[in-house]
Amino acid sequence: TAAEKDGYDWFMRKEIFEQPRAVADTLLGRTDAEGRLLLDESSISAEELRAIDKIIVVACGTAFYAGLVAKYAIEHWTRISCEVELASEFRYRDPIVDARTLVVTISQSGETMDTLMAIRHAREQGAKVMAICNTNGSTIPRESDAVIYTHAGPEIGVASTKGFLTQVVACYLLGLYLAQVRGTKFGDEVAATLAELQRTPEAIQRVLDDLEVVHKLARDLVDAPSVLFLGRHAGYPVALEGALKLKELAYIHAEGFAAGELKHGPIALIDTDLPVFVVVPPKGRDQLHDKVISNVQEIRARGARTIVLAEEGDADVAAYADTLITLPKVPTLLQPLLATVPLQVFACELATLKGHDVDQPRNLAKSVTVE
Ligand code: G6P
Repeated sequence: TAAEKDGYDWFMRKEIFEQPRAVADTLLGRTDAEGRLLLDESSISAEELRAIDKIIVVACGTAFYAGLVAKYAIEHWTRISCEVELASEFRYRDPIVDARTLVVTISQSGETMDTLMAIRHAREQGAKVMAICNTNGSTIPRESDAVIYTHAGPEIGVASTKGFLTQVVACYLLGLYLAQVRGTKFGDEVAATLAELQRTPEAIQRVLDDLEVVHKLARDLVDAPSVLFLGRHAGYPVALEGALKLKELAYIHAEGFAAGELKHGPIALIDTDLPVFVVVPPKGRDQLHDKVISNVQEIRARGARTIVLAEEGDADVAAYADTLITLPKVPTLLQPLLATVPLQVFACELATLKGHDVDQPRNLAKSVTVE
């Protein structure tokens, strides 16, 4: 009913706007009096966590993309090798898993069959399993050795939104936790990163307060037959998620690519009829910002419409952006928490304009409990 939707037209839109609160709740009460991070439940000892030599994240759909984002942070903070794999692939390829492997499963519902089967398979080989889940008492956390709950609240819209953002946050908490236990990152560094994370709800709110340009974009592109999304580093999974949302909701063909791969294929698709979204990394110590801006130039030189997501005050991008979506300044690893939001809104808006059922897209289920 309209009341349950708080006056929004769709649960999805309501859930998009709940994201500042959802992220804040996921971050709430995560440290003890000494500033040490806490897990919700765990039967894995600190000793066992120090012995871990590999992390494999397994998930499906949007949760898989949250895992792809998390890889950048987890490896950076913990110096443990981290693979991310689709649950449906993991089980059947004879993965190398043993008692020193930590398998991290991400699932909003906690009931996705492929993810559950991956857990069972991993535990049979002696691996420890850590669940990141939004549903208390669901099957996946029950069958895991440890759990971090995302406190997003119930997610009704089939396409995951606040589920995704809170999954990324929970994975970051896990990365910091492991770093703390293993000593690759110490108390004050962990506290500093947590403080940066605590500022993201306000930054997400600022993105939500400034959506005029995204709404106009949806109107402009309502008849586009195909849309491309490019990103690099932690922005690469954001591009994949932007494309997935458009497929799920608007039934438009869309693809996400790593910006660095442009020359290895996607550039052949580019012409005046293909809108291209590009997530530009914040200016950092590396060269990625400049490299992605060259990609934007290359795309524009071929006549495509460029839709650029970049941090505010980025003077280098404006000249090459047909449409500019600005994001508050945050460190590179936190940018996915902001850059995903306009892409969610874009897909929701465009699907609404097309007259589709945004909350229940055709052929999709909220929770896929069959293989
Ligand atoms: C379905 C949903 C997606 C979700 C995926 C994984 O495909 O439509 O939105 O990302 O399942 O679900 P989970 O509950 O495991 O996160």
